[in-house]
Amino acid sequence: MDLFKILTYPNPVLRRHCEEIKNIDEELHLIVRRMAATMYKAKGIGLAAPQVGILRQIITLDIGEGLLTLINPRITLHEGEAKMEEGCLCLPKITVEVPRYEKVQVRGVDLDGNQVTIDAEGLLARALQHEIDHLHGRLIIDKVSRLKRDLIIKQYKKLNANGDNT
Ligand code: NI
Repeated sequence: MDLFKILTYPNPVLRRHCEEIKNIDEELHLIVRRMAATMYKAKGIGLAAPQVGILRQIITLDIGEGLLTLINPRITLHEGEAKMEEGCLCLPKITVEVPRYEKVQVRGVDLDGNQVTIDAEGLLARALQHEIDHLHGRLIIDKVSRLKRDLIIKQYKKLNANGDNT
């Protein structure tokens, strides 16, 4: 299967808002299969469609418990707070300590068009919040102070200066 190319910061596509999906058709199934293959190849635990240049509300996740695909995901409840180091396939070679809700309830639609509700905590809660952020143009570097962000971006540019990232 053809893999998608993963866009990297500062590609402006990563800052765009994604459209809600109205129709679950064969094209969408194909996009999801390619997204999952791309995520596994990159050894990521989550991928959002805008990371591969598709501005639609689709996320794939696998925290080691099997593939989870969600269409139009929303956080409907949240509880507590926790900080943890996170990486992102769009920001190679860096990690950022990100505050998130400790527990979330997420609602969305699966590939069969059924409404699903997920009550998550720990790594799954974190990964869901991270990927949902991508659908609204938000990245992990937005979650820290301006000063810290400037330092992280400087470090990121240095570490990726010789890469072939776009
Ligand atoms: Ni990410």
